[in-house]
This record gives sequence, structure tokens and C-alpha cells, in this order.
Amino acid sequence: MTQWFAHRGVSIIKPENTMAAFRLAEERGADGIELDVQLTRDNRVVVIHDLSVNRTTNGRGSIRSKTWEDLKKLDAGSWFGGTYEAIPLLEEVTEWLAGNNLIVNIELKGPLKTMPELIRAVKTIVEPVLPASRVIISSFHHPSVVSLHEEWEEPEKALLVSSGLYKPLRYLQQADVFSLHVKRQTISDKEIVELMDQGIIVRVFTVNDEKALQRLVNLQVDGIMTDHGILPITLSH
Ligand code: G3P
Ligand code: MG
Repeated sequence: MTQWFAHRGVSIIKPENTMAAFRLAEERGADGIELDVQLTRDNRVVVIHDLSVNRTTNGRGSIRSKTWEDLKKLDAGSWFGGTYEAIPLLEEVTEWLAGNNLIVNIELKGPLKTMPELIRAVKTIVEPVLPASRVIISSFHHPSVVSLHEEWEEPEKALLVSSGLYKPLRYLQQADVFSLHVKRQTISDKEIVELMDQGIIVRVFTVNDEKALQRLVNLQVDGIMTDHGILPITLSH
């Protein structure tokens, strides 16, 4: 059955990557949440998508140039037209996840040079609290994903791609990674089915159109990342 991942939480209704968006995903019956993580200047792991705070908070500047002390003062909710929301620490989200059954897809973001430290920090936070079976680590930076074979073997690893891959099965096999998180516009139905037939877990992002969602559910794709909070209610599995 297709699993529904709330992309940055239910980000069509609540400000993305905030506890409000994640809580709503649980309320709406999501199978999991997707979130983006980066390191602050003082190496705290914060949940935020862009490299700067400009779009989604009332502050300005890059995440990497700011300490947690700086970031915790910012409002990550009002830009969306709602009330105040904090930028969450990954610790906070993980503690909340410990009290439910949601899967978490942690997408590694931020400057390339921070990746090794980010992976170590994410592992330190998540490993003691959540079973590896509920954790998926993904990144557009594939060498970082492959480095998890040694750094943190247990959780599922996924390669994120936003353009068509030539011979994707061979590419995945070479990386020894068997999950593909792929932009919907870059993969055909036929390729999705072929990859799944070959044992690859395929999840697609970011799908918000209802017809497109239903089509993917009919294909029995493994997972869909959507900003919506409606999938289990409106779509037939
Ligand atoms: O993980 C799927 C999706 O979140 C990747 O793109 O830019 O929304 O993080 P982005
Ligand atoms: Mg993401």
C-alpha cells in the first residue's frame, strides 16, 4: 500500500517544517513526515528548508551564520499568515515522534562541508530515541548518503533525484542504496513500475494534484510526498 508522507508536514495548511505542520500530519493520519535539517553555527540541528531564514521567518541571513540562540528568537509562522511558530530543533521533533508511530524522512541539507558533522549530529539525536525502522535518511548529495553505510548503517537510505537518471537501477546498485526519492515530473509510470519490480523502493515528490495522487496510488508506488493533508481521506487505496 502506498504510504503518505507529509512533505515538510502538512505544509499547505500550516507553515512548513514546524511542529504545527507535523502535528497536523499525525492528526490527518499520515504514515510519515518529511523534514529538512541543517546545522547552525554552533552545530545544533534545526529543521528548516532553505539555506537562509529569509523566506520562512522574520529574520535574515544564512542558517550556518547563526547560532541556535539567534534562531530560536525567530518566528517561522507569521510569514505563512498564521500565528507564531518556532523553528524546531530536530531533538524536539524526535521527542514528539517517540510518542507516536510516524515514519520520519530526514533530508540532509545545508552546505556540503557540513555534511559529515550533520550526519553525526543527526545520528546522535535520533538513534537513542527512535527505532531505525521508522527512520529514512535522504539527500540530493549522494556521496553523503553512501557514507551512511559506514557512519550509520541501520536506517533506510534514499537517493534524492530531481532529474532523470540514466540506468537508475545500475546507479542505485553501485551506490548500494535501494530507495529512490524522485521528482514526479522526471520519471514515467513505466520506470516507476520497473524499478519497483526490481526491488527498489520508489517514493515520489512533491505531488499535490489530486488526479496525479490517485494515479500514483493506483500504480501502488511505495510512497508519496505531498503538501496536502488529505490523501487517506480522498483517495482509494
Ligand atoms: O524529500 C523530498 C523533497 O523534500 C526534496 O526537495 O527541496 O522539497 O527538500 P525539497
Ligand atoms: Mg525536503
